[in-house]
Amino acid sequence: MVETRLRKRLQQLGIDSFAAYWRRLTDARHRETELVALTDVLTTNKTEFLREAAHFTLLGESVLPHLYQTGAGVRTPLRVWSAASSTGEEPYTLAMLLDQWGRSRRPFEYSILGTDISTRVLEQARLGAYQERAIAALPESWRQSYLLRARGSSAPAPFRINAALRARVQFGYLNLMDDDYRLPDRYHIIFCRNVLIYFNRPTQAAVIGKLIEWLVPGGYLFVGHSESLQGSDFPLATLVPSVYRHLPAWQSGEMAIRRAS
Ligand SMILES: C[S@@+](CC[C@H](N)C(=O)[O-])C[C@H]1O[C@@H](n2cnc3c(N)ncnc32)[C@H](O)[C@@H]1O
Repeated sequence: MVETRLRKRLQQLGIDSFAAYWRRLTDARHRETELVALTDVLTTNKTEFLREAAHFTLLGESVLPHLYQTGAGVRTPLRVWSAASSTGEEPYTLAMLLDQWGRSRRPFEYSILGTDISTRVLEQARLGAYQERAIAALPESWRQSYLLRARGSSAPAPFRINAALRARVQFGYLNLMDDDYRLPDRYHIIFCRNVLIYFNRPTQAAVIGKLIEWLVPGGYLFVGHSESLQGSDFPLATLVPSVYRHLPAWQSGEMAIRRAS
């Protein structure tokens, strides 16, 4: 897979051997820009609006009511982080759901952060322009409320997320493998879906540990359906496989053991 994807990059550059590509990658004049291009070709960015829809149902039916009861979204905005946001479908689905949910509740404020390692997908996400087949999974009423039909043949795609919803979602670069995430705040909800599968076990554990540090106590972590953390030793309670709640220290097993000893 890596070889096939790299060959694409070699073709773009008109380079005919991996050795020559390596020289370019390690040449100080090209290194920085080439690392960006390399990341863009190597990452798998598949995503969809309403992907793994059961997560959004659970969010609307249990997670949001519970957080709202505790004051999130009322006294301070409810903060959501999509930690591998790809081209934006996941954070915009979250924005649509939160917006719908908040219509019958006032006050309700929220903000969403989308981060990714690929600058190419981040640019697409900021633009928020999508093809017709990409938006097909969305309910008609959401399409009516949040999507605009692009005017003119020069538009990058026929539909665009409207400005009000785009303003709710900020995008930024973040490598989940970095030691320190340097985020502005902790989050009530973190979506980190369909990216852990690309990491080995120790990296997965390190990433989960760091995500937990960025959850408010009692906050919720969503991972992909195939990325269950079953059998791992984290201060998390399982809601359903792939959705977890951060246990405040006094509730976690580790603390209970310490108290007992
Ligand atoms: C398959 S997509 C999943 C997108 C979305 N979360 C979903 O479930 O539909 C995986 C995303 O993870 C990003 N990614 C891969 N490695 C990463 C890393 N080390 N740090 C941050 N993002 C990463 C990729 O660029 C890609 O956009």
